[in-house]
Amino acid sequence: MVKLHDLYFKPFVSEQELDTIVQKMANDVAADLGDEVPVFIGILNGSFMVVSDFVKKYPKPCEVTFIKLASYEGVKSTEDIQRLIGLTQDLTGRTVVILEDIIDTGNTLEEVHRIFKNENVKQLLIATLFYKPEAYNKDFKLHYVGMEIPNKFIVGYGLDYDGLGRDLPAVYQLKTTQHMTNLVLFGPPGAGKGTQADFLKEKYDLVHISTGDVFRFNIKNKTALGMLAKSFIDKGELVPDQVTIDMLNKEVEKNADAKGFIFDGFPRTNAQAKALDELMETKDSQINAMVALEVDDEVLVQRLLKRGETSGRADDADESIIRNRIKEYYKKTAILKDYYAEQNKYFGVDGVGSIEEITVRLSAAIDKL
Ligand code: IMP
Ligand code: MG
Repeated sequence: MVKLHDLYFKPFVSEQELDTIVQKMANDVAADLGDEVPVFIGILNGSFMVVSDFVKKYPKPCEVTFIKLASYEGVKSTEDIQRLIGLTQDLTGRTVVILEDIIDTGNTLEEVHRIFKNENVKQLLIATLFYKPEAYNKDFKLHYVGMEIPNKFIVGYGLDYDGLGRDLPAVYQLKTTQHMTNLVLFGPPGAGKGTQADFLKEKYDLVHISTGDVFRFNIKNKTALGMLAKSFIDKGELVPDQVTIDMLNKEVEKNADAKGFIFDGFPRTNAQAKALDELMETKDSQINAMVALEVDDEVLVQRLLKRGETSGRADDADESIIRNRIKEYYKKTAILKDYYAEQNKYFGVDGVGSIEEITVRLSAAIDKL
């Protein structure tokens, strides 16, 4: 991922793919032009890299020159094209091939046609590395297109965002989701996970997604996914990960403008952690951290026994059941701890102390993300 000014961009077309695309364009043009010596005209600034690579790959003699036009402000195309450097040579009777980095609305291309209207060239061909069909609103024929791309802003390989990014050897695409803080929250029974989740939700404006709640909601409301999940539960089978992921996806999509999510109760396996990563990837986002409250077993046992005295929860009353639940927790989470630690995303937080003290420690870990 790269950050330019205030925006984040993710890898889109690699150096190697660019190489292949540019090579193919050069071959296609050469095959069509036979022995004619073309004049390649790059449109500055964006095209300097593709022109440089293109002419190196062009298998026959050619001429190269540039004109300089400007149309973009920030990430938006403007109507108003300025001619900064025009044609400086006579092109009468020549075959001219315009080399563009990208054709978006086609405004720049329209200006190019205007420039060539009275030049009496033999033919004017248009070649562009990238083309955004959804944005194009002109009728000019594009003779060579390296790659059609969706109508999303890209940078790199000559293309810039407000001056930055032209130097990148690969192409990156604007991330649609910016700056999310997505946490996976863990804590052994009795660690105070619920209390801390409520606090984090408030402080960081996150949406708390508890898998248990999501299941209950979907089953209670008889959603298609809820009914599907129930069919497995009723047979005494585990609900397949994909069903759970689909439910989580719905929750994430319901909260498209959230600043981030706290996942609680999921993932529990390596496969689920991977599936969650993939889900966040489709949202142009990622899991930033696994935050785990760490509390000594003896402290947990004492806390839970104390809770059992008033809560009436049967599983809080029996010491051996409590110890078993704690053991189960560590057995399950050890794998996930490794999974996230490998990506430097594991943050253990000391969960012994007052609620406020623990809160301060959690905040310190999250603020560092
Ligand atoms: P058009 O005039 O709207 O076709 O836009 C053409 C010019 O806008 C290109 O030569 C680029 O300079 C710029 N442009 C269009 N799309 C992008 C993009 O996704 N990233 C960076 N520059 C772009
Ligand atoms: Mg350009």
